[in-house]
Amino acid sequence: MNRVAIVTGGTRGIGEAISVALRDMGVKVAANYAGDDAKAQAFTEKTGIPAYKWDVSDFDACHAGVEKVEADLGPVDIIVNNAGITRDSTILKQSYEQWKAVIDTNLGGCFNMAKATFPGMRQRGWGRIVNIGSINGQAGQYGQVNYAAAKSGIHGFTKALAQEGAKFGVTVNAIAPGYIDTDMVAAVPEDVLEKIVAKIPVGRLGHASEIARGVAFLIAEDGGFITGSTLSINGGQHMY
Ligand code: CAA
Repeated sequence: MNRVAIVTGGTRGIGEAISVALRDMGVKVAANYAGDDAKAQAFTEKTGIPAYKWDVSDFDACHAGVEKVEADLGPVDIIVNNAGITRDSTILKQSYEQWKAVIDTNLGGCFNMAKATFPGMRQRGWGRIVNIGSINGQAGQYGQVNYAAAKSGIHGFTKALAQEGAKFGVTVNAIAPGYIDTDMVAAVPEDVLEKIVAKIPVGRLGHASEIARGVAFLIAEDGGFITGSTLSINGGQHMY
């Protein structure tokens, strides 16, 4: 597939699996990351995929980052908005900073990246935007008013932008992962996680590669009629 993609949060966890899956399809991938330089460097050494550092919650940084990727790899055809953080706590304990960090990164990041890339996709008449939502945006989750609101927002954002892109060959879809065996889920207290896994009909956590498989499906050249949809990949935990 002769296309250029940016995967945000693309050097670790689900993002890493997506970056690798797209590379294996022949896509030129730029993996964005915000934090750990050493991990990003190790990722590039292992995969051969270049890593680019910027914070997706920063509007100007997204524009500058996309410009740099386009100078290196060419016009961006595919965006996978995967970057996300958790700051779990009940609303009684949740600070405004915890609320804002999650909304700005998880939901704001989708807006910032779409603003930087959608006009070019629209002009060239082809684009794929895949937003990584969550089962917890569909069903809610105790201790996650910030995360559930941001992820739920991603699902609305997807359906609205899909309507704006439809006439111009730009599809916009979401994936709603369930609980996947990443560092993010490993941070959930063990006793809480045990109870969650007990409710997954497939009987285990998902693997990052199982989400990447969904992304590969949605970005395909012949996927032009799939837009505004949400693909739930959650082991049957929530059928929505
Ligand atoms: N439903 C009902 N009550 C619950 C509950 C639930 N799901 N979880 C906790 N409670 C109750 C506890 O039983 C406890 O009640 P009592 O005081 O009566 O005993 C009370 O809430 C407080 O619980 P904690 O002592 O655990 O409170 P805490 O402040 O230390 O932690 C928490 C609360 C942060 C929510 C913690 O339970 C937690 O981290 N839960 C996991 C949240 C979660 O699933 N996050 C997902 C992260 S992964 C992800 O988000 C990826 C994705 O997209 C799927």
